[in-house]
Amino acid sequence: MMINYKVRPLRPEDIPEVIDVSLQSTYQYSKESLLNWIKYDPEGIIVAALDSGKVIGVCATVIHNDEVAFGGAFCVLEGYRDFDVGNKLLVQSIKHVENRNLGLNCRADKLRIYKNRGFSVTEHLWSILEYEYLGSLNTKVLSDALPAEVVLKAFSDNYLEDIYTYDKMLIGYDRREIVKENCKEFSTKTLVAFKRGICVGYGCVKINIFDAARVGPLYCNDQKVGEVMFKRLLEQVPDAKGLAMSTISNNLIANGCVKRMRIPLHDNLIRLYSKEIMVVNTCKIFAHFDVDFSPF
Ligand SMILES: CC(C)(COP(=O)(O)OP(=O)(O)OC[C@H]1O[C@@H](n2cnc3c(N)ncnc32)[C@H](O)[C@@H]1OP(=O)(O)O)[C@@H](O)C(=O)NCCC(=O)NCCS
Repeated sequence: MMINYKVRPLRPEDIPEVIDVSLQSTYQYSKESLLNWIKYDPEGIIVAALDSGKVIGVCATVIHNDEVAFGGAFCVLEGYRDFDVGNKLLVQSIKHVENRNLGLNCRADKLRIYKNRGFSVTEHLWSILEYEYLGSLNTKVLSDALPAEVVLKAFSDNYLEDIYTYDKMLIGYDRREIVKENCKEFSTKTLVAFKRGICVGYGCVKINIFDAARVGPLYCNDQKVGEVMFKRLLEQVPDAKGLAMSTISNNLIANGCVKRMRIPLHDNLIRLYSKEIMVVNTCKIFAHFDVDFSPF
């Protein structure tokens, strides 16, 4: 079969079709987050589109700063697979980030795709655990007891500077634009943890493309605080159809919470990089920011 298509940056009007392509598999992001990531990096998400305009594939490699880029959301519409569309998307995506260190999370059966394209560095200390679950959420099994002197506050613009400072301290670079856009998505609820007036974590929940509660980012110094934030965030989206969350395998508290809720593991992903391992304190990462677009 000959397919005539072009590879070009995602435009806002493509988003419904991109979601149709993505819903054949499960992706955790929300509709609005696609718009936010293309504001952060206008050429960071690309699509393959037929001459008719129909979108048949998508791939993201978002530039975060001069050194770091992160990839994901890679999917080709069934019926158009095995015709090199995925390869074209990957080649252009990899070119986009120039010589930055490009990270991504890979399914075990897809390792060869990336190993063949120069992703020679593998994280061996941990993997990414993806939870993608449809069904009711039993938050009663989660603790509601905050440690002494810790309070949780509902998001307000007044807390943005505290959140930026905390986020930068944990991740190592400034992400204020995307942090702000994420907190301001219309379905997002954010909680900010303070101990004696100092920000010690923050967490968000939103409704994603399959109407589940997508928890993330959820970062905190003390995982007991993380557990309470997780519970209270989920309680703010009672109409959610399930849970979408990505954790780090060595964060035992985060994964223990999900286990107690009897939510099964969806997939275990391997972290690859084109150049070098990125190091953060994974004890503080209860849930990823956005598993397809951000390293943590
Ligand atoms: C992975 C996917 C995007 C590939 O798209 P495609 O248009 O069929 O890919 P191409 O025909 O251009 O092939 C590109 C490479 O992928 C490999 N590939 C394609 N389908 C594959 C599959 N199901 N399993 C493993 N490798 C696969 C090809 O062998 C080729 O590798 P090579 O060039 O290194 O030899 C597509 O199969 C898909 O959407 N799958 C579901 C979502 C998914 O798994 N995404 C990747 C998450 S890590």
